[in-house]
Amino acid sequence: MAVSTTDVRARLPRFRWQSLQKPAVFIAALLPFLFLLQSLLTGQLGPNPIDTLTDQTGTLAIRMLLISLMLTPLRWILKNTWPIRFRRMIGLFAFFYATLHVATYFVLDQQFDIGAVWSDLSERPYIVAGTIAFLIMVPLAITSNNAMVRRLGRRWMSLHRAVYIAGLAVVVHYVWLAKGDLIEPIVYLVLLLFLFSYRLVKTLR
Ligand code: HEM
Repeated sequence: MAVSTTDVRARLPRFRWQSLQKPAVFIAALLPFLFLLQSLLTGQLGPNPIDTLTDQTGTLAIRMLLISLMLTPLRWILKNTWPIRFRRMIGLFAFFYATLHVATYFVLDQQFDIGAVWSDLSERPYIVAGTIAFLIMVPLAITSNNAMVRRLGRRWMSLHRAVYIAGLAVVVHYVWLAKGDLIEPIVYLVLLLFLFSYRLVKTLR
């Protein structure tokens, strides 16, 4: 019996554009890292590569953190759940860039010198704020998988609300270290306060 092309097409699994969304977001979030790596390997990070690396990874980490916080309000505004699909991935990218940032500081800048890090903590208070932010981000990243969501139940939600404290500590870190040009850190602060208030009002309702 002859099979028509319509029959064949009907039997083929349908291609879903949705299946490309997550890989596309993953590549978009990874691209800045690949550019940084290429610039590092080809010596294009300027006269002070460690400073450039610290600033770039710190900026990427704070931006990813704020984007991850925007996704829940975006879901409410759009009345669509698609933004939530990327929340965990973007949050983990924030942690990835924050880890690179801290590693640049600890390994390349301070060269594992605990004494130097200790005196930095007492001399430059913005380092304390950054450390608090990073220490909060660690358990959030560790408990971001489905198994931990199931295991912790309601406690998972309470734990993950600490992301706003991490966000605040990061913004304080940035405002404190910014010498002169405060526009960017202030924009982040206003955005964070807006996101926090929006979330609070929505939860209280
Ligand atoms: C152990 C924790 C941390 C340490 C020791 C640390 C250290 C530093 C240092 C030394 C700088 C450069 C200061 C300068 O330019 O004078 C910096 C900048 C910065 N850090 Fe951190 N940091 C930490 C955590 C974080 C975290 C968790 C984030 C974000 C999630 C972050 C975001 C930033 C940003 C946005 C900048 C400014 C970048 C710029 O000037 O463009 N830091 N940090």
